[in-house]
Amino acid sequence: MPYNWLVTVLALETSCDETAVAILRRDRSGHELLASEVASQVAAHEKYGGIVPEIASRNHLIYAPRLLDRAASVAKTRLSEIDAFAATSGPGLASSLMIGATIAKGLAIGFGKRYLGINHLEGHLLSPFFGVEKDGDNDIKPNVSLIVSGGHTMLVVVRGLTNYQLIGHTVDDAAGEAFDKVAKMLGLGYPGGPDIEKHARGGDPKRFDFPRSMVGSENFSFSGLKTAVRYLLPKIASGEDRRLTQYNLDARTLRDVCASFQQAVIDVLVTKTIAAAQKYRVNLVTMSGGVSCNQELRTQMREASSRKGIEFKSAEQWLCTDNAAMIAFAALLRLRAGFESQVTEEIDPNLALV
Ligand code: KG4
Ligand code: ZN
Repeated sequence: MPYNWLVTVLALETSCDETAVAILRRDRSGHELLASEVASQVAAHEKYGGIVPEIASRNHLIYAPRLLDRAASVAKTRLSEIDAFAATSGPGLASSLMIGATIAKGLAIGFGKRYLGINHLEGHLLSPFFGVEKDGDNDIKPNVSLIVSGGHTMLVVVRGLTNYQLIGHTVDDAAGEAFDKVAKMLGLGYPGGPDIEKHARGGDPKRFDFPRSMVGSENFSFSGLKTAVRYLLPKIASGEDRRLTQYNLDARTLRDVCASFQQAVIDVLVTKTIAAAQKYRVNLVTMSGGVSCNQELRTQMREASSRKGIEFKSAEQWLCTDNAAMIAFAALLRLRAGFESQVTEEIDPNLALV
């Protein structure tokens, strides 16, 4: 089927514990996000201390049809007017991925439209270009892309749409996972990143000298940093019972631990990303995923890039955490480049980017 200039894509994102639906329209002058709905399940999983897959998929089943209705009404469109239906096909929780993919396939079959299975990581990776695309692939300039989320920490050399080279990944915890685990040790909320960032403000990032692991490699490791925080806490606790996991730190010490931990993560992310951009001779660095919401990380990555004469482009704040707009955007670019998926294509919990 030939690609039309005017195309409307509906995407579902259900790879983990957020249910999201977005409708994105593309015409000659660019694209317009008609609707982007996200239902968070954080509260449903909080009391279990982690995501319970069956609860996540049951909630997707409850939320997805409601979000579809709401998205169509906000976008003032009917589902029958959508040109293509997309869904995240991996990586993620199998039972969660199945819900979004099955709904998208059902809609595509029912309305006789195209279906696209989209890699969640490609959604993140392309999200810094959201809002600037004019001519499909031509505008995905070569870049070194840092994807930092709760599940992934990756460095990718992007040479164009679908032309990705994975050059680094975490050998243990993802950066967001380290934020979440350290927040838990400190008795802060979930997800931990925003809480640590809040407490880090005004803290001394140099007070505690946490390790910067795997310097010189393009891979990442955050588990040593997490352990360093764990060993430090009993030594600086002021509470009665020093064996408790929620240490009674005074406000200043808490701020300093958060600031020092955050700075250790930022140093590693910034150093490796800039070194990769220089090594692979690209003059654009992009950053996406939940951890890239972090203002201090954004500022330091921008400053480090600019010192080396490298352009820096981060996903907009609202696009950093999981959402369906980034999946719709990736689907739109892929459609424009002539890609589509078969409805027989399966979801893959371990789907690789390359
Ligand atoms: O991209 P995302 O929504 O989900 C995954 O695909 O994993 O990322 C969620 C992660 C969580 O680990 C959360 O703690 C982290 O992003 N995060 C942050 C911030 N906001 C969210 N980490 C550091 N600073 C933040 N402001
Ligand atoms: Zn994500």
